[in-house]
Amino acid sequence: MQDVTITVNGRPVQAGIDERTLLLDFVRDVAGLTGTHNGCLEARCGCCSLEVDGAIVKSCNVLAVQVDGSSVTTIEGLSPERLRPVEHITSQSLAGHYQPLEALGADAGDLHPVQAAFHACHALQCGFCTPGMVMVLKNYLEENPEPTRDDVRTAIAGNLCRCTGYQHIIDAGMQAAEAMRGGVCRTAIESPDGAPTGAGAQAGAVAGVGAGPGVGVATGEV
Ligand code: FES
Ligand code: FES
Repeated sequence: MQDVTITVNGRPVQAGIDERTLLLDFVRDVAGLTGTHNGCLEARCGCCSLEVDGAIVKSCNVLAVQVDGSSVTTIEGLSPERLRPVEHITSQSLAGHYQPLEALGADAGDLHPVQAAFHACHALQCGFCTPGMVMVLKNYLEENPEPTRDDVRTAIAGNLCRCTGYQHIIDAGMQAAEAMRGGVCRTAIESPDGAPTGAGAQAGAVAGVGAGPGVGVATGEV
């Protein structure tokens, strides 16, 4: 056993842990923040991505003792005061628990720009990959505020999504970049002729009325 203290989202978390404890397990089981997901444990999927002292790491491939004394930011750290926790939900109970985002006391405009862009662009389906995607893009866009679509693709090259086909994730990355540069975070994406694109039409459908079950995951609630 070894005592470690890791600052997680600004809060020091001290514990005596087995030296083999992964940072991923420390965040989920010791700090109690389950927004960081375990998808493969082999540094392949990126679901477990978080920041250590401002750098993105795959927390399934880092021991907690290696980052003793460091500061970690997880998906929950992006909008810590703005969302109420929700009860754990399953697909079976989802219909009974589902509420639009506003009913949870939150508004898409209160989210981090990357989270808001994922919401607006409907850049998720099951949402399992979403915390990792959001963390990687947030970190990338802070360093690269004017990306091309290819840049965004490259930024998420280490993150796998089984559901979305990636196009809406790229849309969200571009929209988040614009918002983080100080532009307006649009709720619809227009094609060159001004008509809503597929992504824009979806964004319009979800803007202001919340999104599907993945939103809880996007915001680190589940
Ligand atoms: S769980 Fe870490 S990369 Fe898949
Ligand atoms: S794995 Fe990406 S939304 Fe389902």
